[in-house]
Amino acid sequence: MTDFAPLLVPDRGQKVRPIHLVDKDSFENWVKKRPAEDRALLDAHRFDGKTGFAYLLLPRGGEFEVVSAVKNAAELSPWCLARLAESLPDGAYKLASGEPGKAMLGWLLGQHRFDDFRSKKDDADRGGRVLVTGEPAKIDEAVRLAEATVLVRDLVNTPAMQLGPAELERAVKDEASRCGANVKVISGKELGERYPLIAAVGGAAPADRAPRLIELEWGKPEHPRVAIVGKGVCFDSGGLDLKPAAGMRLMKKDMGGAAHALALARLIMSGKLPVRLHLLIPAVENAVSGSAYRPGDVVKSRKGLFVEIDNTDAEGRLILADALDRAAEGKPELIIDFATLTGAARVALGPDLPAMFANRDELAGGLETAARAVEDPVWHMPLWDPYDEMLKSDIADLANSSNSPMAGSITAAMFLKKFVPDEIPWAHFDTYAWRDSAKPGRPKGGDALGLRAVFALLESRYLHA
Ligand code: BES
Ligand code: ZN
Ligand code: ZN
Repeated sequence: MTDFAPLLVPDRGQKVRPIHLVDKDSFENWVKKRPAEDRALLDAHRFDGKTGFAYLLLPRGGEFEVVSAVKNAAELSPWCLARLAESLPDGAYKLASGEPGKAMLGWLLGQHRFDDFRSKKDDADRGGRVLVTGEPAKIDEAVRLAEATVLVRDLVNTPAMQLGPAELERAVKDEASRCGANVKVISGKELGERYPLIAAVGGAAPADRAPRLIELEWGKPEHPRVAIVGKGVCFDSGGLDLKPAAGMRLMKKDMGGAAHALALARLIMSGKLPVRLHLLIPAVENAVSGSAYRPGDVVKSRKGLFVEIDNTDAEGRLILADALDRAAEGKPELIIDFATLTGAARVALGPDLPAMFANRDELAGGLETAARAVEDPVWHMPLWDPYDEMLKSDIADLANSSNSPMAGSITAAMFLKKFVPDEIPWAHFDTYAWRDSAKPGRPKGGDALGLRAVFALLESRYLHA
């Protein structure tokens, strides 16, 4: 993983190249005060403060300065320095006025690439672009947020061949040993007896990719309990209800919820939030074989509800159901789950907006506020009780999918709701965990969506309360 810490350093009067940030309003005034040569250069490049950036290549002790257009120079976004971080020559830089604040995140993330499978690593032993700041106290959190984000990206980008349930278990254990947490893994016969839905979904996979429930516990017993649950489908072929090729192509990312949950756990532990953390990751491969679960099968869930399998491709909600039931047993004061649960959530909100469901309006409101504050947007969707009807089964307590093409992300959330006691505040994120086209600081591929929003809420509740 990229070592982010050396890329943000406290200001000790070191030699730096200044970065001037301008926006369409401030540009006029700023450019007036520049030497005539600069004005001519910017003019030749048609730089008008609206988009892009430019070097001011004039002899100032052999160093150049940089000018970059941002949307609002008075309030920097997390991503406004990302393109500079991706493209400037190595060296030390500093904002000509003000401090980077939130924009430190994009500065760091602009300098990470997933290159595990490139034989030529183009930035081996490079110094990178270093940003000098007069607010050293903010460095640590920016580094931790960047590390958590790339943890999600790298796990999601890793192909199913290299990342099955066993490797996901390894990733959880690695975090646990860094942070002093305990991990327990349930698999085999015990899984079949205690977590029937997880065992059913994972039943078609070969022995070395066997299904399991990975649980991590951390924190002091006297602190409030928070449970984080993540969908860990290491590959979703659809099972016997096999996906068509186009729908299967990206399904290595179906453990994206687990990656978000693990990254959130890392943020909680490294940020030393005074909570007692319970992380639960049901890890499976939704495969096809003679031992696959079938459409029409009925499975008695851990909670005792009988679930008829209407569609083996609606597997995420099944494994989450058993995991949520287990999470609720600990009587946490909050349960959060992340899952790449439905295509319908993407139809409704597109790739960039995770669908957020919550059984308390106050919790949904808190998440929206936190999301806005850290510019990690989420959208509140309804747990609409009347749609419960769509999950009716002819022979069992409920079915795992509806035969209506409508409201797919809501019915999936309603399914999960059956497994969470009403008295426990719970939020569910149906997220894409992927970016189809690159943006500054956010390459095409796996991405964390909604992670910083949830962490901001937890910080406001437990750290700054
Ligand atoms: N992992 C998929 C959902 C998904 C698909 C997320 C594409 C992001 C992009 C999930 O397991 C699934 O297959 N859901 C089905 C549910 C249906 C069978 C009720 C879906 O969304 O089509
Ligand atoms: Zn599926
Ligand atoms: Zn899935």
